Amino acid sequence: MAQLIIGDKTYELPILEGKCGPNVLDIRKLYEQTGLFTYDPGFTSTASCDSKITFIDGELSVLMYRGYPIQELAENCSFLEVAYLLLNGELPNLDQKKEFDTHIVHHSLVHEQLIHFYQGFRRDAHPMAIMVGVVGALSAFYHDSVDIYDHKQRELASYRLIAKMPNIAAMAYTYSIGRPMVYPRNDLSYVENFLSMMFSLPSEPYKANKVLVDALEKIMILHADHEQNASTSTVRLAGSSGANPFACISSGITALWGPAHGGANEEVLKMLHMIGSKDRIPEFIARAKDKNDSFRLMGFGHRVYKNYDPRAAIMRQICYEVLTELGIEDDPLLQLAIELEQIALDDPYFVERKLYPNVDFYSGIVLRAMGIPVTMFTVLFAVARTVGWVAHWREMISDPKQRIGRPRQLYLGNTSKHFTSLYDR
Ligand code: CMC
Repeated sequence: MAQLIIGDKTYELPILEGKCGPNVLDIRKLYEQTGLFTYDPGFTSTASCDSKITFIDGELSVLMYRGYPIQELAENCSFLEVAYLLLNGELPNLDQKKEFDTHIVHHSLVHEQLIHFYQGFRRDAHPMAIMVGVVGALSAFYHDSVDIYDHKQRELASYRLIAKMPNIAAMAYTYSIGRPMVYPRNDLSYVENFLSMMFSLPSEPYKANKVLVDALEKIMILHADHEQNASTSTVRLAGSSGANPFACISSGITALWGPAHGGANEEVLKMLHMIGSKDRIPEFIARAKDKNDSFRLMGFGHRVYKNYDPRAAIMRQICYEVLTELGIEDDPLLQLAIELEQIALDDPYFVERKLYPNVDFYSGIVLRAMGIPVTMFTVLFAVARTVGWVAHWREMISDPKQRIGRPRQLYLGNTSKHFTSLYDR
């Protein structure tokens, strides 16, 4: 129990213990008892829910999905096994895996009518803009999976979302370059299928490079979930009103798009191009430290990690593997990134603020080397994170304590104003 003293009154606040990580002060009765709200813009000290899905220890560089270290999952699992784990709490056995894979494969096609939506977008539309629109539009198609209080329907909506996302993403790309849209193939793995829909042509056979498939599998595992980040919290908040699941995931895509979140992978690459050569690094480091300059070192810093992001360490390794496979070990962008990282890690500004490379720092270099266009980087993140969003949405809906999310505010606006007519203002 914690004690809160306000004036001559003392209030008892329960302290709740998690399985690991900081304990939390239970303030649910605070307003009722004291008439006060707490104030925490950006939620730096607020646990918005309890969850059993993902755990991060930002000081010790730990990331676990359902208790499994990210390193072990990335090394040994397929993306769909990890998806099953996040959704169901345990890795699948052989039969469960077969059944789950079959569900995903059989829901990968989208309604033909949905394909016409793409014609409504300009060819130069950012694929994330298309994703927001098309994924939101799924809510107008699948009426048999929107009773969120029916477990079976929730499951069906989950399969549909995870299965269709690579198809929707690949179509956003093929539409932008005027290529024929390629249907999914049931004989391919989730990741191979995505690459085939992105890069194959109906007129030719396509075989994805095994090293690149394995790398993408790992990259998607690294991006599959990250507890209550901005996009996941958005999905939870949207879903807390009982909204349509497809629309909720679309809201997550919107939040992910921002450069402070998933959009950072695209921004890192733009930044490296802008820096251009090693001799210009000091100039950009100086700009990143200048409070009058809005420039930030993209791919650096994290709200939770105050140490090396464990995903960035794996991503760096993947980067070497992919570049070696493709015979481009001396990629100038990679050399620039390594130098930039070293200079930043030795700089007191970054050291004092505990700013380390995050997952996005190296991902752009790998994805670019794999032939993924820059504007598709965040889309790929969205495809992988859909699993996490869906897992959190399901956890929330099936929680008996669930209520609509409704934060309060500290009002600082006008008071006591009275109407004056248009001509007297
Ligand atoms: N470059 C320069 N300074 C930085 C950076 C950066 N990348 N990140 C944080 N800072 C400084 C910031 O100016 C502040 O300094 P001071 O204390 O002097 O005011 C201090 O470090 C703390 O930063 P903050 O903005 O209060 O931290 P936050 O937790 O609100 O923001 C962040 C976290 C990730 C948005 C931020 O570090 C950032 O903008 N990084 C660059 C964008 C990026 O790489 N985003 C991807 C995050 S990981 C993937 C994901 O979440 O999708």
